[in-house]
Amino acid sequence: MQKIKLGPSTYWDCYTQNVRINDEIVPLTASITSCLEYLISCRGRPAQNYDIFNHIWECDDKDFNSKSVRTLISELRKKIPVLKITNYYGGLYALEKYREGLPDIGEYFFDILDQAKHGITITDPNQEDNPVIYTNEAFVNTFGYSIEDVLGKNPRYLQNQDTNQPELDDIRKAIEAKIDITTVVRNYHKDGRLIYNEVTISPIFDKKTLELKYYLGVQRDVTKLYELLSKQNPN
Ligand SMILES: Cc1cc2nc3c(=O)[nH]c(=O)nc-3n(C[C@H](O)[C@H](O)[C@H](O)COP(=O)(O)O)c2cc1C
Repeated sequence: MQKIKLGPSTYWDCYTQNVRINDEIVPLTASITSCLEYLISCRGRPAQNYDIFNHIWECDDKDFNSKSVRTLISELRKKIPVLKITNYYGGLYALEKYREGLPDIGEYFFDILDQAKHGITITDPNQEDNPVIYTNEAFVNTFGYSIEDVLGKNPRYLQNQDTNQPELDDIRKAIEAKIDITTVVRNYHKDGRLIYNEVTISPIFDKKTLELKYYLGVQRDVTKLYELLSKQNPN
């Protein structure tokens, strides 16, 4: 049974779509359950009230209308008081993630990114040509460029002249549509060596305004895996 913890002794059962507090099922109407399911699926990001409304449209109990999402949310708050549902301007609701016992890691935030074993890059799409504003040690170790080489440039320089790759079209489209993408591209180390790079690019939004703020890139060197596979399947 896959469970998501919503608060102390409070769980969402992904399979039955029940909420249990101390193992007791909390009785909820179908539309309140569906509303909660939608908020959970947003993983902490705010949802528009009309998206919630569309999601619960199929429910049989029909104890709502387009204006009553607010009523459903307040019912939800009453039935499960540990839920932290933030109401943002413009009819947006976010179920804040329950982070049990998480200490304040703010002070170590950049140490954590710096010491991660996969490359991490953050770009700023609100600047001309979406330049890198942060990169970590693993990125430097993988591609051989120094942090100074990288900052202020769009990461496409990693492709050298090898820009005729269909995967780059996919990346272009995902960036334009502001959605996540994971793909493998041919990149080149500063010394010219070919690197197969499995890169995941994700848009990062301001939770309140939903404005696009950054792109996060996670780079994983999968060259060894590619070499192994091509030895096994030479064609
Ligand atoms: C956060 C982020 C990380 C990226 N990391 C890489 C990378 O590691 N390797 C790469 O070839 N392209 C990477 N790209 C993609 C290029 O920056 C660019 O979007 C791609 O080459 C397609 O666009 P273009 O036609 O403008 O070059 C990344 C993009 C973003 C936003």
